[in-house]
Amino acid sequence: MAFDGFTAGHVRALAALDDAREQSMQVDGRPMAQFIGELRNHMFCEEQFLFPILENALGIGLRLTRDLRAEHRLLRGLLLRAEQADEPERRARVLTDLRALASAHFEREERELFPIGERTLPSAAVTELERVLARMW
Ligand SMILES: [Fe+2]
Ligand SMILES: [Fe+2]
Repeated sequence: MAFDGFTAGHVRALAALDDAREQSMQVDGRPMAQFIGELRNHMFCEEQFLFPILENALGIGLRLTRDLRAEHRLLRGLLLRAEQADEPERRARVLTDLRALASAHFEREERELFPIGERTLPSAAVTELERVLARMW
């Protein structure tokens, strides 16, 4: 099912974030760069493909996807602050906030959004989504 890819992306992003917190947290270090790239790509795929497909399938603007897009904006702000933090302690605090927000956001998608998609998306839409995701991930 297409949503397995999104759930796997959540697991990968949190694991990369935990690596970044554990290590030196140099902004150009591999774990930090991997986490930032992972999360940005994940949110891009959701906003460009997953959310519109669900909104179109249901024929309405989903309040849920509007909320999730707003959370993406908050996450992007924290990613920027983590990149710009000039000392490890400050970066560690931002990463702690990021961990809390990202994990609550991921849980909400898995608990509320993905089940809606599994119930309502026609199989052609799921096939299209899988095709797109195979190129992105
Ligand atoms: Fe998301
Ligand atoms: Fe997600």
